[in-house]
Parts: sequence; structure tokens; C-alpha cells
Amino acid sequence: MGPGAVAILRGARLATRSRDTEFPFRQDSDFWYLTGFDHPDATAVLRTDGGPEFTLFVEPRDPAMETWTGYRPGVEGAVADFGADEAHPSDELLAKLPQLLRKARRVYHVLGCDVALDAKLVATLDEMRLRSRTHDEPAEAIVDPRTIIHEMRLWKEPEEIDCMRRAAEISGEAHADAARLAWPGAFEYELQAALEHTFRRRGANGPAYTSIVGGGRNATVLHYVRNDQKLGEDELVLIDAGCELSGYASDVTRTYPVGGRFTGAGREVYEVVLAAQEAALAKCRPGETLTSVHDAAVKALTEGLTALGLLEGDPVELVAREAYKKFYMHSTSHWLGLDVHDVGSYRDGDDPRKLAPGIAFTVEPGLYIAEDAEVDTRFRGIGVRIEDDVVITADGHENLNTAIPKAPDDLEALVREGEPA
Ligand code: GLY
Ligand code: MN
Ligand code: MN
Repeated sequence: MGPGAVAILRGARLATRSRDTEFPFRQDSDFWYLTGFDHPDATAVLRTDGGPEFTLFVEPRDPAMETWTGYRPGVEGAVADFGADEAHPSDELLAKLPQLLRKARRVYHVLGCDVALDAKLVATLDEMRLRSRTHDEPAEAIVDPRTIIHEMRLWKEPEEIDCMRRAAEISGEAHADAARLAWPGAFEYELQAALEHTFRRRGANGPAYTSIVGGGRNATVLHYVRNDQKLGEDELVLIDAGCELSGYASDVTRTYPVGGRFTGAGREVYEVVLAAQEAALAKCRPGETLTSVHDAAVKALTEGLTALGLLEGDPVELVAREAYKKFYMHSTSHWLGLDVHDVGSYRDGDDPRKLAPGIAFTVEPGLYIAEDAEVDTRFRGIGVRIEDDVVITADGHENLNTAIPKAPDDLEALVREGEPA
């Protein structure tokens, strides 16, 4: 932040789900990263202007309310358990703002999230300007703190990677539990229930994003979340589901053969995606970029599509004119961390950012052949994605999901473990 700065960081508030019910509370990722404070309606003030370095504004203790909604740390707990230098009730924030900003040269604040706070901030600075002949000058800039915080979040520390490893382990167990249910006649939501049962049973918060369980043609919808159809014979079922543990997301996709048997076109498409994922993973090392990871996947997918007769022509030329996009319309990777599509710049100036130890991301090539695609009918309605989470190391990468099978024979064996009696 540099000297003379004050940062005002708002935590998440409860969001109404319907009438007087609320969504489960999920702390704002930036707030969680900086404070570890997991209760609604808190604000952190960080200062380099000589004032207390870390102040928390929190909901105060309230025995009557806590009977309904549970324990709150309150101002005492904010200091004793969360390391704040001082703490105040949330509803004193606006009134204390002029005092907090007296010496600030720059204010770090996210505009547009809290209109009352925005208005008070602007009014406070205006008032200071009017009185600057006899009082302190107002801050000269309101700066978005997310540039700094998101750069910090991009680089995972060993403790964070450890959390992500444990999230991956739980997600792996959940995938196995769901895969064993992938038999004709089962509903997609039964597999979803198995996944999410294991997430919670193993202590994760729940899914890191809405679980995707798409059988047959539903696998060609990238973010299919209805999960309400029955699995059929000779289909594939695409499961994209990962848990959130201590705030950290895992994001894993496997495509399983329903009934434990990869047949015909399903197996052929699967093997193309698997080869593409292996080619992409081989690029996951320091000095490469997500662009080179994506390019490796696209090259392998295009070669495979050509071999299957789904594209015709010279693969190099097909890549150049992006012919694969009809069957592969998303990118291969995104950063991963406290958010499933995590923060941090993908660029370094005009260039793609170079991968370096501590950066975590997904590798998730797929092929999605629409039901009405003008291709050999046996390929229509097939969707396959294979997604792993990796962290760059000094000499390559650590794949967090190696415990989850992806070789076709291993997937068949896993599903067959659940053969109905
Ligand atoms: N589950 C969302 C994604 O893979 O990006
Ligand atoms: Mn992903
Ligand atoms: Mn995913």
C-alpha cells in the first residue's frame, strides 16, 4: 500500500434467498484471505498512516440475537481471536470514517459494493477539502485494493497448497462414490447427492461451485446443473464437481462410462480428450504460459478430431482457423484458489503471464459434439471433459488429482465396483 494509506475492506453480508430465508453465509474471498474472519457484515481497516494497523468493525455480541443465529466473536473476540489491534461495532463505521481518514493520502476502497459507504467516503473527502485551510488535506486518490490482493492470492503459500491437496483428496473420494452409482436408470441427482454427501461427511463446506452431473447429451452443455435426468445404457456421464475446504476450491471433472463399459464412439472421443490433457499437462512447468498449455491441448484435440473424421484437412491449418472451436469452445485453464475461477492477472504487460512455482490452475480440455452436429450420427450428443488441478513446482508441476482414475479401463473398473445386485 505504501506509506500514508488507509484500506477499507468490506466483508460479505447475508444474502436473501427467499422472503426471510438466507443463503448460507460465505465470506468474501479477499476478506477471508486477509482476516480469516468468517462472520457477516464485518469491515477491516488496514493503515500505514501511523494509526492502528488493523481494525475490525464487527457485529457486537448480542445474547438475544445469538440465540437465533449463533455465536458471534463480537468486538472482544475480534481482538482476542483475530489479531485486530482494535475493534468496534459495525454500525459505528460510517460515523468513524472522518477520523479514520484524517491522515490518509490514499484510500484503498472497492467502489460500487456498498453505496452508503461510497457516499460517506466521498462526502468525507469533500468536507476535508472545504476545511483544508485549517485542517488536514483530503486523500488524493481512491485506489482499488484488488490489484494488490489478487496478485497476493495468485501465489499460493505451502499452507494454502496443503488445503488444496486436502480438498482434492475429498473430491476424489466423492467422485468415486458417485461413479459407483453410474448405472442405467440412476438419476443424475443421485450422483450429485453422493458427491455432496461425501463433501460434507469429510468436513468440506460443500461444493465449491454448483455440481455438474450430465448424462448423455447433457454432457455437451458446459455448465449443465439441472441434474434431473435418468442415465441410459451406453451413455457417458460427465461429472464436474469439487469441494470447498477452508475456503479453497477443488475443481475436478471426470467422464465415466455408464454401466462400466466404454463403447464405440464414446471411447474414441474419450481417448482424444485424454491425449489432449496429457499433452497440456506436459506443458505445466515454470516458464510456460496458460497459452502454451492451451495450444498443446488444441493441437492434440485437432489431430484427434481429424483422425476420427470429425474434422477434415491439415491439422496445422485447422488449428490456424480454429476449426476445433465447434467442438471445443472454452479455454483449457483458469487460476484456482479461494475462488474456483480464481483471481490474479493472466497477463504480464502485453504477454501471457509466465507460470512459476506456487501458481495453481486447472487443466481441462474437452470435446462437446452437439446432438445436431453435422457429423457421423454415432458421435452426436457425446460430451467429454477431463479436468485436473495443478500447482507449478520448481521443476514441473504437482497434479493434485492423481488419485482419481482417468484411464478408460480404470474408470470402467471403478463404475463396476458399484454394480447393482
Ligand atoms: N467447474 C467450472 C469449471 O470447470 O471451470
Ligand atoms: Mn475448471
Ligand atoms: Mn470444473
